[in-house]
Amino acid sequence: MGRVTFDHTYAGAFIGADELEAMGKAAESARQVLLSGEGPGSDYTGWIDLPEKNDREEFARIKDAAARIRENSEVFLVIGIGGSYLGARAANEFLNHDFYNLVNPEKRNGPQIFYCGNNLSSSYIRGLVDVIGDRDFSINMISKSGTTTEPAVSFRVFRELAEKKYGREGAAKRIFCTTDKARGALKQLADSEGYETFVVPDDIGGRYSVLTAVGLLPIAVSGVDIEALMEGAADAMKRYKTAPFEENAAMQYAACRNILLGQGKVIEIIESYEPSAQFVAEWWKQLFGESEGKDHKGIFPASVTLTADLHSMGQFIQDGTRNLFETVLDIEDAGEAILMKEEAADTDGLNYLAGKDVAFINRSAMQGTILAHNDGGVPVLKVNVPTRDARSLGELFYFFEFACGVSGNILGVNPFNQPGVEAYKKNMFMLLGKPGYTKA
Ligand code: PA5
Repeated sequence: MGRVTFDHTYAGAFIGADELEAMGKAAESARQVLLSGEGPGSDYTGWIDLPEKNDREEFARIKDAAARIRENSEVFLVIGIGGSYLGARAANEFLNHDFYNLVNPEKRNGPQIFYCGNNLSSSYIRGLVDVIGDRDFSINMISKSGTTTEPAVSFRVFRELAEKKYGREGAAKRIFCTTDKARGALKQLADSEGYETFVVPDDIGGRYSVLTAVGLLPIAVSGVDIEALMEGAADAMKRYKTAPFEENAAMQYAACRNILLGQGKVIEIIESYEPSAQFVAEWWKQLFGESEGKDHKGIFPASVTLTADLHSMGQFIQDGTRNLFETVLDIEDAGEAILMKEEAADTDGLNYLAGKDVAFINRSAMQGTILAHNDGGVPVLKVNVPTRDARSLGELFYFFEFACGVSGNILGVNPFNQPGVEAYKKNMFMLLGKPGYTKA
């Protein structure tokens, strides 16, 4: 059994043993299709064996580049959108201090990390230019296609800033591009300017790319042990590829969510009681949303951060339209204890908690909420993550990727394409007057 485990006890009233057995068979067939190399989108299944087959020479270069950036930069910009930044942000926020960018630089012992190129807001760009100020910075421009508008716009601005500060040659030592190995505008530019490049493999799509250079360079820059991250993923890979349904947490998760979808539960809300997991949820939303939401099918992936959102979305989850289920990401490791102290006056009435750890209060809130939502008719699935470290996160990333590949195949969609993402681009290019795009 791996570190990451799955539990559907709190969805028991919705998932009968017979249904689970039948869906288990569907999940077994879906896994076979996924692993056969002949299923829908099979050209994009390079992520399956990646934890074992990653390019060791490039891995060493990533570690080397990260060490240089940590040494010579006070700020590190990660430019990318969708699958080209969400995984890195998820890992960096989950595995580091909640206030990583704000702690004393000596304690942080690495550059501040900011993400851009994931919107087209000029005030966001201006704000980031202000934040960099006259400090030393480096850039990782990440785009598989090399032509995505949002990151390309930001890259122009920050490349110019780097060239002004360091000169063209100096800037070239601080700009790192992660893109296709041979094709595309970014690869061409990087080669002509002498930027160091890293590869997004041909057979891995953006949302499955966190364990390639796409995620690994920015994750390594934040000081995370990327060897341990890959070890966790490799461990999960061996298990999920071969373990039977009864012992396969990822397949069980895929099966349960499809059973619930069959009962009209068309919204899945992922939730964690740790704010640092917010971007794990964002990464997960893209993974499942882009993989399954097509052909007028799929579960709408949503997220909340608890307990904060119990005071906003909690009402709807408890009592609103009964078309949703929850998946709790239970991060069991809360770190060093913070014990509540007794106060003489007890004006806030919290003395009954004296001697208790804040983590205990948080877990009680979680348990109470699960039971309340169950009473309100909401099935709750649980994914348990016992430790908050790189190895467990590697396992968790792979858990969701594998579950998504199986789930998409159960659903009968191609989990590896995203034709719907193109529609807005065509309209935007037409409005911008891009050559080749004319009004219909
Ligand atoms: O999953 C995907 O393929 C997308 O979300 C892409 O990651 C995103 O659109 C960015 O594409 P690119 O890396 O080509 O700039």
